[in-house]
Amino acid sequence: MTMVCLNDFEEYARQHLSKATWDYYEAGADDCCTRDDNLQAYKRIRMRPRILRDVSINDTRTSVLGMEISFPVGIAPTAFHCLAWHEGELATARATETVNTCYIASTYSTCSVEEIAAAAPNGYRWFQLYLYRDRKLSEQIVRRVEALGYKALVLTVDVPYTGKRRNDIRNQFKLPPHLMVKNFERMFQEQAGSQEEYGIPANTLDPSISWKDVCWLQSLSRLPIIIKGILTKEDAELAVEHGVQGIIVSNHGGRQLDGVPATIDCLPEIMDAVQGRVEVYMDGGIRTGNDVLKAIALGAKCVFIGRPAIWGLAYKGEEGVREILQILHDEFRLSMALSGCRNVAEINRNLIQFSRL
Ligand SMILES: Cc1cc2nc3c(=O)[nH]c(=O)nc-3n(C[C@H](O)[C@H](O)[C@H](O)COP(=O)(O)O)c2cc1C
Repeated sequence: MTMVCLNDFEEYARQHLSKATWDYYEAGADDCCTRDDNLQAYKRIRMRPRILRDVSINDTRTSVLGMEISFPVGIAPTAFHCLAWHEGELATARATETVNTCYIASTYSTCSVEEIAAAAPNGYRWFQLYLYRDRKLSEQIVRRVEALGYKALVLTVDVPYTGKRRNDIRNQFKLPPHLMVKNFERMFQEQAGSQEEYGIPANTLDPSISWKDVCWLQSLSRLPIIIKGILTKEDAELAVEHGVQGIIVSNHGGRQLDGVPATIDCLPEIMDAVQGRVEVYMDGGIRTGNDVLKAIALGAKCVFIGRPAIWGLAYKGEEGVREILQILHDEFRLSMALSGCRNVAEINRNLIQFSRL
């Protein structure tokens, strides 16, 4: 089977994963309006290419938080990679190390932060964090990732409660017994048998999370803090005022509040508010190099892919994730060349036809 574009990997995963696993990865909240709009929104954007600019050499490299990466696409934090491929996050970590881009490891990984670091010792990694009612739990994991050389903390702020994903309820989705949220192995033992939600005891996340907790996190760690899940200029402004180092414009792949805009549609107002004071990244619905180009043109420093990495895993583990990244890289480079951009710095808002938006 020749894999030409990311949709081919999606189709493969749809056919080869169990129904409950596929449903879990595919899920959006409620009617899935936002999940689907994340993809559609890119298709509404038209570009204004420049010509005759000698695009015989294209440089796709960029940097995030001062670290050079091979192109502006990283891996968003997604849970439970071992459901898609037996080596799980170890394969993802190795693939991103080879491609030289950024991997945001999820709290809900089925391999531990230690195992991930050991699998790809030279990989560039950030760690995605949730805040737990038991702050000691959050504190312990922060200490561990700091010691292991993870380079930033990505605090996910759009999950005070888990969104309603209908098929997971219908399927009574649960991790199979041989898998677990490996980062918390042993920590929840005393609560064994209690009601669980997505691999950890229900009600572990703290819905009282607020900006105070961002300050608390800053007092705990010297790592840069990136807030994931911002969709408005008001919250972007607050994030900058609170001294964070980055923002990920994200609606959690449409899995939380249904009916919020596609992330690419939120980006311009956030860029206008932030005015270059911190780096702004985004995720949601990136499926082609063209999508990447549009997001960078609208101001994102880097984009992250969630579900496509899982399809790559389902296809061929490490090699599959590498292929996904390679295809996106090649498509991005081609789109750059066809639009007259020789390097990432040349990609800017002039590339977007605003009169149609
Ligand atoms: C199956 C799945 C699991 C996810 N798990 C997490 C997670 O553990 N932490 C987190 O911050 N975001 C999580 N997300 C959201 C992703 O980080 C990201 O925002 C989203 O997948 C981007 O959209 P895309 O899948 O269209 O690329 C998850 C998304 C999916 C699809």
